[in-house]
Amino acid sequence: MQRTLITSALPYINGIKHMGNLVGSQLPSDVYARFCRATGHEVMFICATDEHGTPAELAAAKAGRPVAEYCAEMHKVQARLASGFRLSFDHFGRTSSDENHTLTQHFAGRLADAGLIREVLEEQVYSNADGRFLPDRYIEGTCPNCSYDSARGDQCENCTKQLDPTDLINPRSVISGSGDLEVRETKHLFLRQSAMRRQLDEWIDNQIGWPVLTTSIAKKWLHDGEGLQDRGITRDLDWGVPVRRGDADWPGMENKVFYVWFDAPIGYIAATAEWAAVKGLGEDAWQRWWRTDKGAEDVRYVQFMGKDNVPFHTLSFPSTLMGSGEPWKLVDFIKSFNYLTYDGGQFSTSMGRGVFQDQALGLLPSDYWRWWLLTHVPETSDSEFTWENFQATVNKDLADVLGNFVSRVTKFCRSRFGKEVPSGGTYGATEETVIAELTTRVATYQKHMEAIEIRKAANELRAIWVAGNEYLHSAAPWAVFKKDAATAAATIRFAMNLIPFYATLSEPFIPDASKTMITAMKCGGYVWPKDVAAALGRLAGGEGFEVPEHLFTKISDDDREAMKAKCTGQEA
Ligand code: MF3
Ligand code: ZN
Repeated sequence: MQRTLITSALPYINGIKHMGNLVGSQLPSDVYARFCRATGHEVMFICATDEHGTPAELAAAKAGRPVAEYCAEMHKVQARLASGFRLSFDHFGRTSSDENHTLTQHFAGRLADAGLIREVLEEQVYSNADGRFLPDRYIEGTCPNCSYDSARGDQCENCTKQLDPTDLINPRSVISGSGDLEVRETKHLFLRQSAMRRQLDEWIDNQIGWPVLTTSIAKKWLHDGEGLQDRGITRDLDWGVPVRRGDADWPGMENKVFYVWFDAPIGYIAATAEWAAVKGLGEDAWQRWWRTDKGAEDVRYVQFMGKDNVPFHTLSFPSTLMGSGEPWKLVDFIKSFNYLTYDGGQFSTSMGRGVFQDQALGLLPSDYWRWWLLTHVPETSDSEFTWENFQATVNKDLADVLGNFVSRVTKFCRSRFGKEVPSGGTYGATEETVIAELTTRVATYQKHMEAIEIRKAANELRAIWVAGNEYLHSAAPWAVFKKDAATAAATIRFAMNLIPFYATLSEPFIPDASKTMITAMKCGGYVWPKDVAAALGRLAGGEGFEVPEHLFTKISDDDREAMKAKCTGQEA
């Protein structure tokens, strides 16, 4: 049995996520996980909240809560939304877990033993009023280049010049506004990524069939030299994984934590260990997914993420894994995404611009969002959400094509043939033609899903639905019924068979509607159609069925405007 490990980039803990976050990794990874399960893979599908770092600390402070409590609560909120969108994670973990603390400290210890960590004395800005060191972007002041008065310590937003915090004129803390700052010395650990360049280069060269978006970003960072500079992996913060060397103290590193981007990807492994713990299973249960000496050599590992995450997954995380000298499973395929824009601009969490996950679920069922997002997933370029397009897509694909088919067929069957699927008549040339067309289309659909070409797969799925509508239209059982009841019975039986067939193929995209369809047909559940002719002969006649109530409801112009109005300018 093919074993597939799937991870979605871990959403930051702070704030409710918008639809752009959903479409940029979690949702497509869910479609793929569902497809793999449906076609017989053993799947481990992992996500978690990414809980460390300054933004989490500041969000907690803003909410007036201790950071650990804030994170625990926000984790629950995100878990609830994830299940609202039917994301089928085997486990939705937390990077603040004990498992992640232990593993992160373990990796740091191994990297140190391998000579891949060096200690660096740095100068950093300390804010007396805040009682803490300030990350560069939390210092603001006047730009020495263009005199813009709110330039950030890492870059001036106005003239784009890269800055050091000490370049700023009249620097102040973004957190408190205080100008009482001083430069202090502080010691940090650097991961010697530069020493791993050859190994990384070779590994990336050996990856076949990676999306261009992924490899071009990786290669750029590798060869510009930019990305492969040694990288600080510790910070002067309270919240995070304390710096330890395995289970030993790290002299001189007291009161420091690992940098959030060091511990976050390790969180994929840790969340799998959490899964095992929750299930009451031992170490072997998760290590068989992650250790090639424990059975993971035949696992295919696929990661999903937005393009801004690619350098961390092609360079930093592999450096951690390879540098440990232990046989950890490396990623086999990275699927990365561009951005979703909102009505002509950016989604913005801080400005409350866009559709947020909690709002979306309050407005319409999850399948409506899933279908729009997945048919517009930003695979080859950015894509734009507009309410008009959303309305048109839902109404046409879901209501007019799929929903209408299911409702017409079941209603006609009930009114003319009663409570059971009719058994009269036999399939003829028309049905054979449809079977031939669908055989080709299902093969194409499956090929796109295997290649994780989500949009192409969605288009093929829509064409599969359309074929059913066209069949029904040309076979016209309502007209035939009066003269030739047996032929009409065969037609309607064929059409009824298309319902569980559609339910099965559509399940990765629209799991709730699929469930309604499969349940209504009382045929014993999903069976992936290896052979289309056999799949469309599943209901032989005599089976009971329900007429499902409104699979999808159309969005009127008034609904659309009302939803749009609700989604403007929500405070973050
Ligand atoms: N939280 C990051 C983001 O939203 C992604 C972290 S992915 C992981 O951009 F590799 F760190 F896990
Ligand atoms: Zn400037």
